[in-house]
Amino acid sequence: MTETELYTLYKGVYMPSRLHPPQSLKYYEEFSFRPDDVIIATYPKSGTVWTQEIVPLIMSGGDPASVETLPNWKRVPWLEVYQDSDLEQRPSPRMFSTHFQYNMMPRSFFEIKPKVIYVMRNPKDVFTSSFHYHGITNFLVKPGPQSEFLHKFLDGKVMFGSWFDHVKSWLNAEDKEHIMYISYEELIMDLKDSVVRISQFLEKSLDAEVIEKIADRCLFKNMKQNKMSNCSLVPHEFMDQTKSEFLRKGIAGDWKNQLTVAEAEYFDAVYKDKMKDVKYKFVWD
Ligand code: A3P
Repeated sequence: MTETELYTLYKGVYMPSRLHPPQSLKYYEEFSFRPDDVIIATYPKSGTVWTQEIVPLIMSGGDPASVETLPNWKRVPWLEVYQDSDLEQRPSPRMFSTHFQYNMMPRSFFEIKPKVIYVMRNPKDVFTSSFHYHGITNFLVKPGPQSEFLHKFLDGKVMFGSWFDHVKSWLNAEDKEHIMYISYEELIMDLKDSVVRISQFLEKSLDAEVIEKIADRCLFKNMKQNKMSNCSLVPHEFMDQTKSEFLRKGIAGDWKNQLTVAEAEYFDAVYKDKMKDVKYKFVWD
């Protein structure tokens, strides 16, 4: 199936229509944030589900109840995905996820300024993860040959638009006081330290033993065993993990196994051009 058949163009970006029917997008547009909400914002395949494990554990002071009983999409629901319950009614502090670019956020977000954890990942690894993901999901256009998907990815003709636009939109946020920027690579390099930094940002003071336990729970090998977090509960009609698992490799730098030398060079050239005005120091640069 094609983009026209599977995607809706919303605020200039493609969104998979099956997950984001018009009533969900309207619901999000009219959503009222609260000052103590916590939002995980990501470009898809940047470590969303990982952060959906870390943040609830921090917010609960290390109590694993929610990560053991609720699938990630109920624990930290996406605001733009169709919901069968009213998210506004949740007790505070609420936790939500979004793949929206900064400029797509609803009006209430800019008025209330809830805390945001924006997770970024080396776009070549985002591409790699995304390529495999598109092969296993039924609500996304099949990736086709890698070189073709590479052009679609670099041109932003994929779900939630261009990685470059997404990252730049959040980095250029008007008010950065309420946004924490962290990368997948930092989580990989030092998960414990990342948990400490996120807990400080969320103003949750945790003792060393709790931090240790949270970091251990959020290790790739342990999350893979957690059926509430490994997406094994996603109905087969949406995702076929017999082809490639959602928690696939969980490493930084897998693009080296995926891109040809020419593709990587082309990627770098596009990256250099599109990111030339960005001052942020990325771990992967
Ligand atoms: P790979 O496909 O490279 O393995 P998202 O949740 O935003 O869709 O991102 C999915 C990516 O995050 C996948 O990358 C997945 O394996 C990785 N991931 C999820 N949990 C992880 C963890 N605990 N440690 C490392 N990577 C993790």
